Amino acid sequence: MTACEFQPGLEGIPAAQSKVSFVDGQAGKLEYRGVPIEALAENSSFLETAYLLIWGKFPRADDLEILQAEITHHRRIKYRIRDMMKCFPESGHPMDALQASAAALGLFYSRRALDDPSYIRGAVVRLLAKIPTMVAAFEHIRNGNDPVSPRDDLSYAANFLYMLHEQEPDPLFAHILDICLILHAEHTMNASTFSARVTASTLTDPYAIIASAVGTLAGPLHGGANEEVIMMLDEIGTVENVHPYLEEKLATKSKIMGFGHRVYKVKDPRAKILQKLAEQLFAHSGSDPAYEIALELEKAVAEKLGERGIYPNVDFYSGLVYQKLGIPTDLFTPIFAIARVAGWLAHWREQLETNRIYRPSQVYIGDHKLPYIPPDQR
Ligand code: SDX
Repeated sequence: MTACEFQPGLEGIPAAQSKVSFVDGQAGKLEYRGVPIEALAENSSFLETAYLLIWGKFPRADDLEILQAEITHHRRIKYRIRDMMKCFPESGHPMDALQASAAALGLFYSRRALDDPSYIRGAVVRLLAKIPTMVAAFEHIRNGNDPVSPRDDLSYAANFLYMLHEQEPDPLFAHILDICLILHAEHTMNASTFSARVTASTLTDPYAIIASAVGTLAGPLHGGANEEVIMMLDEIGTVENVHPYLEEKLATKSKIMGFGHRVYKVKDPRAKILQKLAEQLFAHSGSDPAYEIALELEKAVAEKLGERGIYPNVDFYSGLVYQKLGIPTDLFTPIFAIARVAGWLAHWREQLETNRIYRPSQVYIGDHKLPYIPPDQR
């Protein structure tokens, strides 16, 4: 192997061979296991899509029923995890609470039988089942309330909204959240998936893998951008203020949240679907003035940055959808995590198939052979 040149951010360097998903950044195409995202958003459910991603094929009707039943059975979280969450500061970010809680699952299920398919399946089921319950539980605990127990008769997305709001959701809201989960479930070698694969390559337990991926997703350049988009639209405040806001950001070389992507040089196909979902929600339950600001901002950014390939990414319209579903702003990224668990688990299984520990090299640019300096001479 010849030494290759250092690439900041590993841009363009393949970190794995993968069959999980595919992105064509010039054409704006995304496929999970070869199936276009538009077809999945139109026809699938999140759990069916999770099955497709993790096991590489569509489930038969009875396979899906079994998975659904297993997940429903494992939704509850141990009282010790709830008690642990009660010790977290109420002002802490829910992504930090989720990272700690996901890692804590490893304390309860510590066996690392990575060659045992029933261990792998058990971990997949537990993580898909318990992560939404942990997100909803922290929301209640930080507000001084007891968590709401899951309801076995509700679908994956409907149950999450129920646990959050303690009332059965409007079926349209549950359907739209389910599509959002499909859209966020997987996206090739993004930062958190890379983090998951690096952690997986040490043959550690899946709870540590998910915890490390959650920590990576939390940053504002990755999953945390959806929250920042809503804060930005609030700060812009009016349609008239869009252009002055953008001019100021460009003059100070600041990033416009929800725009740009390492791979997409056109509008993210997920953003197109999310925008339609936002419009569907506004038609159903009233418009949102922030949407007009978002539309104007998209136009203005296209004029200024379009020729450099900077267009809305997945995070630009998702926040407007979540807001309309009554979800608090700082839970937007945890919801991204609930969905992305499916992709991380698919990459975990794929990593195990041909594992070799990640151990890249570096280009050392420091000094050599320096003398030791005694403390009183520094
Ligand atoms: C996600 O990778 C994935 O697949 C991630 C994701 C997934 O599903 O997992 O799609 C989810 O993380 C979406 C991205 C959410 N982040 C944001 O919305 C934050 C704002 N966007 C950017 O910071 C940026 O576009 C990134 C982080 C998304 C991509 O970063 P890159 O590829 O490292 O690009 P860069 O920061 O080096 O920018 C290249 C150029 C720069 O200009 P020059 O220095 O060359 O003159 O493009 C400019 C940047 O300044 N640029 C932007 C911009 N994004 C890029 N300028 C203004 N606003 C922006 N948003």
